[in-house]
Amino acid sequence: MMEGYEQAAADAAERLASAADLDAVADVEREMLGRRSTFTEAKRRLGDLDPGERAAAGRRLNAARERVEASVAAARARLSASGRADRYAAERLDLTERLPRTTVLRRGHFHPVTQARDRLEDVFVGMGYTVAEGPEVESAWYNFEALNIPDWHPARGSFDTIFVNLGESEEVMLRSHTSPVQIRVMENRKPPIYIVAPGRTFRADTADATHLPAFNQIEGLAVDRNITMGDLAGTIDEFVRAFFGGEVKSRLRPSYFPFTEPSAEFDISRPDGSWLELGGCGMVHPNVLSNCGIDPEEWQGFAFGFGIDRLAVMRHEIDDIREFVNNDVRFLSQF
Ligand code: PHE
Repeated sequence: MMEGYEQAAADAAERLASAADLDAVADVEREMLGRRSTFTEAKRRLGDLDPGERAAAGRRLNAARERVEASVAAARARLSASGRADRYAAERLDLTERLPRTTVLRRGHFHPVTQARDRLEDVFVGMGYTVAEGPEVESAWYNFEALNIPDWHPARGSFDTIFVNLGESEEVMLRSHTSPVQIRVMENRKPPIYIVAPGRTFRADTADATHLPAFNQIEGLAVDRNITMGDLAGTIDEFVRAFFGGEVKSRLRPSYFPFTEPSAEFDISRPDGSWLELGGCGMVHPNVLSNCGIDPEEWQGFAFGFGIDRLAVMRHEIDDIREFVNNDVRFLSQF
């Protein structure tokens, strides 16, 4: 004959097998196994039995209890697995996008500074130059010394150089201009030389509307026989015309750089008639030619270097150069 709790256990197993959620399982568990449950009650009544019958009754009770525990565990496993599956299904993200037919697909494009750089390269290639490159981390020799800037030279301070903690102090640095590429090219090639070297340059500057601590320059270098300042001025004028079209003018102002003599700064005209300083230039200093094993009696050269980012700012009439590094697609997609 079945005891009352055995009947209750069988009913419980059935309810558990068809339980719809975890709360229903918890209800059955409390009813059957909790403090005031069927089994607790039945266990208390064991005390009323004869000692001879108690052991066998206890085993029956335990067996029934274990069956209920196993059913609870099985129901819980079933429901939490399916609960998880439901949750996953609900949280599923559809990452495939089907655009309505009427939407025009917009292609990505190069960053405006990259566009300016490519265009500059094209303009100079059209004038017979080739493109050269150099490393962004430089030694003091290439960034300064070979460019006629010995370590005592005050111009060294004006570059706000960012040094790299490597080797001797102040020996390794992020290049503060693209002029070291001049040296690398002249060390490795015989004149005549006509190169441009675009690339990233670095200075310990606080970013503001017209400065970035990491910016881009393009260097130009021509070494040949009988080169004069007139060739330099003509080249700058020609490139400004080719880059902007006829409406922008350039001018040279006397200046000083240790690696050129004479030296000048060059400006381009803004639409409002004011001038924007773009870069420096000059005739390559004889010491620089000698440092690279080129005889200054036989060869002359001119060099120039200017900011590509500034040129792009000017071209697109952008108020703040920092826009170029904010990487806001809404800004960038205008170009
Ligand atoms: N390297 C100089 C600068 O960054 C620019 C320059 C290049 C000047 C070539 C003269 C000749 O300020």
